[in-house]
Amino acid sequence: MRPLAECAAEVLATADAAEKARLSRAHAAAWVAAREAGEMPPVGRAAPPLRPARPDRPEVLPPREVPKRKPGSAEGRTAMLHAVAHIELNAVDLHWDVIARFAHVPMPPGFYDDWVQAADEESKHFGLLSDCLAARGSHYGALPAHAGMWRAAEDTAEDIMGRLAVVPMVLEARGLDVTPDMIDLFRRHHETDAVAALETIYAEEVGHVAYGSKWFHFLCGRHEQDPRETFQGLVRQYFRGPLKPPFNTEKRAEAGLPPDFYWPLADGMD
Ligand SMILES: [Fe+2]
Ligand SMILES: [Fe+2]
Repeated sequence: MRPLAECAAEVLATADAAEKARLSRAHAAAWVAAREAGEMPPVGRAAPPLRPARPDRPEVLPPREVPKRKPGSAEGRTAMLHAVAHIELNAVDLHWDVIARFAHVPMPPGFYDDWVQAADEESKHFGLLSDCLAARGSHYGALPAHAGMWRAAEDTAEDIMGRLAVVPMVLEARGLDVTPDMIDLFRRHHETDAVAALETIYAEEVGHVAYGSKWFHFLCGRHEQDPRETFQGLVRQYFRGPLKPPFNTEKRAEAGLPPDFYWPLADGMD
């Protein structure tokens, strides 16, 4: 197969959302097939764009300008699924961006295996939510979406440890905190397709946080740095604002994120 970093840059340069997700899954399948055949395809180098290509729609607005909708209404829940679809599409780009942008950092094959798998799962998540939107007569792009989601990537474009601290270990971990309530909401409204999609996402996101923690610890070991102190320093440097409790301490622990890593960064804790 082509060098992995070039494949990653191609996903980032693809604007159409469905095509981005399709290409992401195709590159992931090629990587997995090569690895299962006992090969280690080249990682190579790439020049990823600072910001990934995106479709003209959805309109991207500052968070406070995105209309608030009540989750009690069917429309509100559709808007919630749209917002999650936007997060998942962003996650597709975030995973490929790590591969493309930090291709110069020597990492073991298992790092790429994990990142490719996570990118593949994010693409699947986007597809699951696109199906839920279609079942409600909507589609990705029909509603405005939050701007600013790429900021964490731009802020950490030069710092792989900062990227791992802020993206999987803060942002994706936050997903573990909020998803159970979302699943309950859709269950109460008997929207079984959304429940199934969110349950798949919830289960697989534990793995993404775990990959982040695993490779963050690996790099701390390489540089002889204390993981907890380093994590807290990087989050204070790159992440704006405190972390918001309540935390899903059980799933976070399952993902290799112990409470003494994040509690000192929480709202009202320092
Ligand atoms: Fe996801
Ligand atoms: Fe994820």
